[in-house]
Amino acid sequence: MTKLSKRLQCLANLALENENYIDIGCDHGLLAIALAKKYQNAKIIASDINENALSNAKKNIKKYHLEEKIEPIQSNGLENIIPKKNTTIIISGMGAHTIVGILNQSYQKLKNVSTLIIQSNNDQDFLRKKVTRLGYYIKKETLVMDANIIYTIIVFEKGYHFYTKKQLYLGPCLQKENSPLFQKKLKQDLEKMNTFYPKIPKNHFHHRNITRRKIKYLNKALAKSNKNINN
Ligand SMILES: C[S@@+](CC[C@H](N)C(=O)[O-])C[C@H]1O[C@@H](n2cnc3c(N)ncnc32)[C@H](O)[C@@H]1O
Repeated sequence: MTKLSKRLQCLANLALENENYIDIGCDHGLLAIALAKKYQNAKIIASDINENALSNAKKNIKKYHLEEKIEPIQSNGLENIIPKKNTTIIISGMGAHTIVGILNQSYQKLKNVSTLIIQSNNDQDFLRKKVTRLGYYIKKETLVMDANIIYTIIVFEKGYHFYTKKQLYLGPCLQKENSPLFQKKLKQDLEKMNTFYPKIPKNHFHHRNITRRKIKYLNKALAKSNKNINN
């Protein structure tokens, strides 16, 4: 089978056994194919809004003789899909606002969705805040470095948990684990924020305050881990 990228492989590894999977925005369908091979009894929907993407997914599904296990559906988010009981939804490679839009638009359909595995390309704090408001808690977070980019993958499960602004920004599990890759990400994010902050117009008070708060969280998290290393 075509080798998965490190990011897609990490998503596949995080998908624990469930009865049903839906890969929203499946593109080439390679993740759905990896899941079909990993879980012989699972039913998988590979969906995409784009006709060409879905046609590529169909070709790949056929190539690996997985037509019985993977159903390709053209759909904007969950519009044309009804999730069955015990479903894991995977959404990856999109912006946080698109992902949250997809989930909010169909929140009534999430009642059967036990797990959401999400890899957003940006705004992880916004994503954590909005998804936890839909009745999910953060079960696991993983960072993966692929082609020199650090990706954050978050596994949400049904349930409620309160998170502070700092946890929503840094990631509660990532903070706890405090891995070397997390350290690298903190440094990268701090550099970005420090470059970005002076460019925010002086009269954009709210934006400036939020950015200053994020810089404070990053500095504190880095100082804390430096202290741990030195002790
Ligand atoms: C950058 S690709 C990511 C593909 C794959 N999930 C990955 O992680 O490599 C984003 C895909 O999401 C699809 N997409 C974007 N918005 C969507 C929506 N509202 N519903 C379903 N698919 C969508 C695009 O057509 C595209 O194929």
